[in-house]
Amino acid sequence: MTEATVSWLSGPVLRAHTTGRFHVSDAILVGDNRLLGEVIRVETGGIVAQVYEDTTGLRPGDHVTSSSEPLSIRLRPGLLGNIFDGLLRPLAAMPGDTVQPGMRETVPVSLRYRPVAKQGDHMHPGQLIGEFGSGVVAGKHLVPPGVGGEIVSIAGEGDYEDDQVLCVLRADNGIETQLDGGHDWPIRRPRPVARRMRPREPLVTGQRIMDTLFPVARGGRAALPGGFGTGKTILQESLAKWCDADVIVYVGCGERGNEMAEVLNEFPTLEDPRSGKPLLDRTVIIANTSNMPVAAREASIYTGITVAEYFRDQGLHVALMADSTTRWAEALREISGRLGELPGEQGFPAYLSSRLAEFYERAAHVETLQGDEGSVTIIGAVSPPAGDFSEPVTSQTKRYVRCFWALDRDRAQARFFPAIHPLNSYSEDVAALARWWQARGNPDWMDHRRQILTLLEQRARLERMARIVGKDALPPRQQLTLLSADLVNEALLRQSAFSSVDRYCSPERQTALMQVILRFVDRAAQALEHDVDLERIAAMPVLRRLQRASEEVPEEKVAQFRLLMARLDEEFDQLERRESHAR
Ligand SMILES: Nc1ncnc2c1ncn2[C@@H]1O[C@H](COP(=O)(O)OP(=O)(O)O)[C@@H](O)[C@H]1O
Ligand SMILES: [Mg+2]
Repeated sequence: MTEATVSWLSGPVLRAHTTGRFHVSDAILVGDNRLLGEVIRVETGGIVAQVYEDTTGLRPGDHVTSSSEPLSIRLRPGLLGNIFDGLLRPLAAMPGDTVQPGMRETVPVSLRYRPVAKQGDHMHPGQLIGEFGSGVVAGKHLVPPGVGGEIVSIAGEGDYEDDQVLCVLRADNGIETQLDGGHDWPIRRPRPVARRMRPREPLVTGQRIMDTLFPVARGGRAALPGGFGTGKTILQESLAKWCDADVIVYVGCGERGNEMAEVLNEFPTLEDPRSGKPLLDRTVIIANTSNMPVAAREASIYTGITVAEYFRDQGLHVALMADSTTRWAEALREISGRLGELPGEQGFPAYLSSRLAEFYERAAHVETLQGDEGSVTIIGAVSPPAGDFSEPVTSQTKRYVRCFWALDRDRAQARFFPAIHPLNSYSEDVAALARWWQARGNPDWMDHRRQILTLLEQRARLERMARIVGKDALPPRQQLTLLSADLVNEALLRQSAFSSVDRYCSPERQTALMQVILRFVDRAAQALEHDVDLERIAAMPVLRRLQRASEEVPEEKVAQFRLLMARLDEEFDQLERRESHAR
């Protein structure tokens, strides 16, 4: 056993003397309560470590023992439906609860097991050994990465606790490995895959401004930056409820306890729109609120992504939400400050950038070791102070994400939600996803979204002009552009998370809505060319109908959009007929 003696303490950080062999990233236990920590630096004659629990009461002279293993979590089928702290220790459902100091073990879960492989089979990493039954989404028992060999024995069908030995493998060198339902994995090490795949299908979020304008691919990475009150948490929750992932990993990272409490109280009551069962059944929540130890917050992001990769490796599509990565970066800053490291921009350590890169890099659409397809999509909220996107966490994050959903204070203040600004946001996955939309009945998706963005860009320019010369001084064509852009904003981009009809919008309904809006834009431009007055166009009854369409046409009545389209054409035909009679 490798030991050290605490010589200096500062909050979650300590130094200890030792002559033993410690390695960076080794998990350690500190003091009489055996508080969990991790070596972050090895020096001559000593180590520097961070402790994941409240260090009040620790003193110089206390013992440090190394586990000689990197800081790991236990991945197992019973994770779904539960709430954990930043190191995957179970939290009681009540917010504000913390785990007992030094506590490590999780409560075993009893599961139905059915072997698939048999004695004598030669198993390689990632191969299927058996299945856990009865309503478990992620029920595959796979050979963990780095392990393999011939099956010496395997459990028969029956009920087992997930920490009971289910299978024994013997490697070529004769060494035997006992496998239970779970296995340990170091949180800072990405889990291996057969290969990474290119993005080719979206993570459908059900939020129009995301799917239609700035889609994120399955296995993609997106940032959701915005100042206080711009709607980060509500959007992350909407995504968790409605996106078409098999499993949701929700990392509540460093936000205040009462905000997290809303998530913790609400989630267990939510119904999964896909199955009618509790949404929590396919969710893992990792909660590390601002009152919990800061070092565990630093770890919670890695714990979250490791859990996500574990489910991905079972051939599932996983969405990971982190709210907020800024609080995580602040934990890095605090620890770095206590270590006396040279501060970079705004006090953040110079390695902030590489840490962000490592995190987002773990998002991927992959072929698993078993040959299945799975993905992890990362959606990280960023909370820049005063909503200033030039600050280090936002600007560094921007380098590593492919999708940037910029929340806008003015939109939020006008209660225009989601407050994603269409001109400050982008997605680099658009071209890769056009084919998917084509297959879903919208061959013109690329073209349509381009038209919509152009309208919105023109609107911004004209608004500036209108502020100087007055709106009425603009020629009718430009006034029509403003009218059309307003329609796009109101009817397409606005979407309330609290509307039972509109909180989710399927790709089919998005397409139908976009088509009818663009038809209006086209026909209105034509009508204007045929000398129809702008006032007449602005007064068309169908325009009112369009503005409310997303609220009035529910999912199960998407066909009604065809009627709306016919009505629109009819009204325009009438207008133009009347105009030509008048002449
Ligand atoms: N998509 C939305 N639909 C309707 N209201 C929203 C939406 N997003 C935000 N809001 C409103 O804005 C408030 C603040 O949102 P919240 O997500 O808590 O902000 P943040 O996490 O960025 O501080 C919410 O309480 C809600 O009233
Ligand atoms: Mg929030």
